[in-house]
Amino acid sequence: MTIGISDIAFATAHQVLDLQQLADAQGIDVGKYYIGIGQSEMSVPFPDEDIVTMGADAAAQIIARHGADGIRTLLFATESGIDQSKSAGVFVHGLLGLGEHCRVVELKQACYSATAALQFALGIVARDASEKVLVIASDVARYALDTSGEPTQGAAAVAFLVTADPALLEIEPVTGLHTDDIHDFWRPNYLSTALVDGKYSLAAYLGALEGAWTEYQERGGAAFADIARFCYHQPFTKMAVKAHDRLCKVAGAELDKEQRLAQIAASLQMNRRTGNSYTASIYVGLLSLLERDGADLAGERIGFFSYGSGSVSEFFTGVVRPGYRELLRTARDAATLDDRVAIAHARYRALHEAVDAVQGSDYETAAETPGPYRFAGVVDHVRRYETRG
Ligand code: CAA
Repeated sequence: MTIGISDIAFATAHQVLDLQQLADAQGIDVGKYYIGIGQSEMSVPFPDEDIVTMGADAAAQIIARHGADGIRTLLFATESGIDQSKSAGVFVHGLLGLGEHCRVVELKQACYSATAALQFALGIVARDASEKVLVIASDVARYALDTSGEPTQGAAAVAFLVTADPALLEIEPVTGLHTDDIHDFWRPNYLSTALVDGKYSLAAYLGALEGAWTEYQERGGAAFADIARFCYHQPFTKMAVKAHDRLCKVAGAELDKEQRLAQIAASLQMNRRTGNSYTASIYVGLLSLLERDGADLAGERIGFFSYGSGSVSEFFTGVVRPGYRELLRTARDAATLDDRVAIAHARYRALHEAVDAVQGSDYETAAETPGPYRFAGVVDHVRRYETRG
C-alpha cells in the first residue's frame, strides 16, 4: 500500500506589505530584502484574520472537493496558537461542520510540527487504509518591530489530505531525523513575538540539515542523484538557497550554481511573496514547486528538509503521482496572492502594535477580511469565529 498526500490547498492573509515600504521607512537599500534575504513581500492579517481563519480557508477547499467522509482525524500544526489549552483545529472543525466522530489535536514544535503531523497521519492510515487525515499548517510569523527578523514576517496556511493510494504525492518510508536542545529561535508564553539569535539560527539550520541528511543516508535513503527537486523550510527564501548549496557540498554533488538553483527555484516563488509562514512554509514550497515548475514532475522524487528551531528536523522524500497537475488550483492560488490589499508602512506598524494592546480584554473586530471566515472578537475570554455570507 502506498500512502501520502491526495490534495493540498493554500490560503494566506488578505493584506500585503511590499518590503520596499519597510526598506524606505528604515532608510536602507531594498536590495537587502529583495536579493539579500530573497523576500519581496509579506502577508499581513486584517484584525479579523488569524491562524484559524486562514486554516479554515485552506481546509474548506479540500472539503469542497472530497467531502468530509472518512476524515476521523484533524491535525492542526502551528507555532502561533490562539489558546493555551483548546486546539485551533477544534475551531476549524466547528466552522467546517465536520462530523463529531473526529479526533482533533494541535501540534507544536516551531516550524517543524506540520511534518510531525504528516508522519503521524501516515501512521494512522497505515493502521487502517480507510481513514483519511486532514492536516492543517497555519502560522502568523511575528517578530518585534525594528529587529533583524522584522522583514522575515508573514502569514499563510496549507491544508492537505493524507490517504492510502494518494493522488498527488506518495511519501516514502525512509526519513532522517535530527534533534538538538538549543535556543536559536523561541517564544516564551508571555510574548506575542519570537526571539531569535539570527546568525546562530542560520548555522543551526545548516547543521541540522547535515545531521538529518546523514541519518537519511545511513537508513538507506535515496541517493542525491535520484532526487529531482528539493523543498526546504523557508524562513526567507535565501535560506533555502544556502541550504541547498550546503546539501550539494555534503552529498558531493558536482552541480554549478544554475543547476543547483534549478532544483529549488520554483519552490521559492510563493514564499517570496507570503513571507515566513513557519510550519506551513515547506508545504507552501511544495505547492509552489508543483504549480510553477515548468517540467512535468510526474514520477519524480522530491526531497524535503523540514526544520523547526529549538530544534527538531527531518529529511524525507516523496514521489509525484501521474495526473497531479489536474489536482492543482494554480490560477486560484496566483489570484489569492495578487488580490491581497496593498498597505502602507504606517498601517502595518499600527496593526503590529495593536496585537498586544487587546490581549486579555473583551473586544469586537470590524468586518474587514474579504476571506470566507472571520475572527469576530473575544467575549468572556472566548474567541468567536464567523462564516462570512
Ligand atoms: N543588496 C543585496 N544584498 C544585500 C544588501 C544589498 N543592498 N545588503 C545586505 N545584503 C545581503 C547580505 O550580504 C546578506 O547576504 P548573505 O547572508 O548571503 O551574506 C543578506 O543580505 C542579509 O544581510 P545581513 O546578514 O546583514 O542581515 P541581518 O543580519 O540584518 O538579518 C537574518 C539576517 C539574521 C537572517 C534576519 O533576517 C533574521 O534574524 N531572521 C530571522 C531568523 C531566521 O529566519 N533564521 C533562519 C533559521 S531559523 C528557522 O528557520 C526557523 C524560523 O522559521 C525562524
